[in-house]
Amino acid sequence: MSLQNVNVLLGVTGGIAAYKAPDLVRKLTGLGANVRVVLSPSSAAFVTPLSLQAVSGNIVHQHLLDPEAEAGMGHIELARWADVLLIAPATAHCIAKLAHGMADDLLTTLVLATPAPVFIAPAMNQQMWAAQATQANLKTINERGVTCFGPASGEQACGDIGYGRMLETVEIAQLLDEALASRSLLVTETQDAAETQDSESGLLAGKHIVITAGPTREAIDPVRYISNHSSGKMGYSLAIQALALGAQVTLVSGPVDIPAPIGCTVIQVQSAVDMHTAVMHAVQHSCDIFIACAAVADYRVADIANQKIKKDNDEMTLTLVKNPDILADVAALSNPPFTLGFAAETHDVERYARGKLTRKKLNMIAANDVSQPGIGFNQSDNALTVFTADTQIVLPQQDKLALAKQLLTIMAHNVSKH
Ligand code: C5P
Repeated sequence: MSLQNVNVLLGVTGGIAAYKAPDLVRKLTGLGANVRVVLSPSSAAFVTPLSLQAVSGNIVHQHLLDPEAEAGMGHIELARWADVLLIAPATAHCIAKLAHGMADDLLTTLVLATPAPVFIAPAMNQQMWAAQATQANLKTINERGVTCFGPASGEQACGDIGYGRMLETVEIAQLLDEALASRSLLVTETQDAAETQDSESGLLAGKHIVITAGPTREAIDPVRYISNHSSGKMGYSLAIQALALGAQVTLVSGPVDIPAPIGCTVIQVQSAVDMHTAVMHAVQHSCDIFIACAAVADYRVADIANQKIKKDNDEMTLTLVKNPDILADVAALSNPPFTLGFAAETHDVERYARGKLTRKKLNMIAANDVSQPGIGFNQSDNALTVFTADTQIVLPQQDKLALAKQLLTIMAHNVSKH
């Protein structure tokens, strides 16, 4: 369990949903977490410190300038104690304060003082949630790495119906547990990669590698798009391992749910055309190697509707036009970098992969059979067969991070012969 022995600092702010805080503490401790609670000044009107002390087994923290509390566990110690800071409920006011980096009470001071990841579960009236200011503040804190759970839609304490209800406590605890599982995976991966640096550091030192990853989204209208199941995990694993092998990495990524590896330049894009523009720009800057790992949509909608398409007709037809082939365009440059492409095939893997190698004028291609269960798209494992004009190497099924390292090692050997 990912919350086992994790120190969770739970911030409670002053909305009606604060009365659920003791129950949330129980759910978190039930998953193995150690919980300390910080109450915002107004939340004490909805929930008593004593009940939170009883369920958490710890003194509840309330005041920034409290000599007694500072003599026990001061605010900086508390900020360091936390492995994760969860604010539930998070009011519109609290979100606004976070967006502006304010530190006028204990909780907001802790948010600035802690290196721990911050999660919020908003709760407010639906109109307040929809307000432009709240949404803009949310966007700001999201971009800084704060993760938002919910809110849910439904009947509210004020009688309104809409988005703004805090998620159920069991859902919040579950989401936090899952979020920590994916983060610890990434931390371990980055550490593993860093450890390999000792033995094989320098294999890609001095090389600038541009990597594409994830899916692309091809808009149909302002609210709909065409995409695919790519998780971005293979491309992100390549970025982590390339960094560990000493490369400078530019990661051009479609929309994915995984955090960017620390140390690389990430350019986030949506459509294939955006990805094409970003890659062509990035490869002009002394790029040595281009790895095309993204699952780029082959087609895009010819005319993206400016407004949401209404369901007035029983049938509708979308005209699609072909997207630029990013990999082929990079390989066709007058002074191209070393190019490594991917080929996801369901049959005749070697024939199609070799066909792409020749047609797109690539140096290497890594092919996988996506009809095999348990590997490829949206899976943590993969298996690859790597082709150059005159070689073929099979990399058996394994975790994508381990596979990425093997692939980069083979690639580095070929780059040096290039
Ligand atoms: O032709 P196909 O799409 O199967 O080729 C797959 C390879 O080409 C992958 O490396 C993929 O990232 C790249 N590609 C691309 N731009 C496209 C389509 C595919 O870079 N528009």
